[in-house]
Amino acid sequence: MQKLEQIYEGKAKKVFATDNPDYVIVSYKDDATAFNGLKKGTIAGKGVINNKMSNMMMEMLEKKGVPTHYVEQLSDRDTVVKKVEIVPLEVIVRNVAAGSFSKRYGVAEGTELAIPTIEFSYKNDELGDPLINTYHALALRLATKEEIDEIKRLAFAVNDALKEFFKSLGIDLIDFKLEFGRFHGQIVLADEISPDTCRFWEAGTWDTTKHVSLDKDRFRRDLGGVEDAYQEIIKRIMGK
Ligand code: TMP
Repeated sequence: MQKLEQIYEGKAKKVFATDNPDYVIVSYKDDATAFNGLKKGTIAGKGVINNKMSNMMMEMLEKKGVPTHYVEQLSDRDTVVKKVEIVPLEVIVRNVAAGSFSKRYGVAEGTELAIPTIEFSYKNDELGDPLINTYHALALRLATKEEIDEIKRLAFAVNDALKEFFKSLGIDLIDFKLEFGRFHGQIVLADEISPDTCRFWEAGTWDTTKHVSLDKDRFRRDLGGVEDAYQEIIKRIMGK
């Protein structure tokens, strides 16, 4: 399948049209941003790692009954995906307190949550992706009740599958962000699953004050070893 004109450029990916109106090609960049684009940088090799990893995760999830946008990997950085209409919600699932959850609710990072939890942000860069609840999402016509119920069901199914998979690699899945799209009336998992969008902590380090991050927090928090962390994740996944 050939790349035609570029139809969109995001912070980490470009999207190209194809000769099939149902499909687009995403091309993963090495660009990294944080704090709504305020911090900018490059993570060498990230695009290749995120492309391969995300595709493997989507293939695994499809086998577990989660519909995804994934179609076919074309090259190190390029993948054919279904052309979805993105639901403008960032869907965040958390197992352990970290990041904005810890800050907002005054809970130490590394505190295990009593149950896995879910939250939604309104995907809107101008507003800084504000946290919203289900009623807000309905009131703003971002999605229907049925769609939100389906998104919640799928998000927890993704958590169950990913938590178990990463546990087997010696990695604790702390939290992650998903995006969903509409494709011919069906809600499907879209965007990516990568160290950009998940918190991965070296197993057993989450209940200490010195957890070891193997994800984009190394970039966000200037911890060093950013490229090494991405390499380590893909190495463990490929080793399976
Ligand atoms: P948070 O604790 O900063 O809200 O992040 C929760 C999870 O969502 C974490 O795994 C990182 C991911 N995330 C994104 O993928 N994109 C974003 O823009 C933000 C803020 C977080």
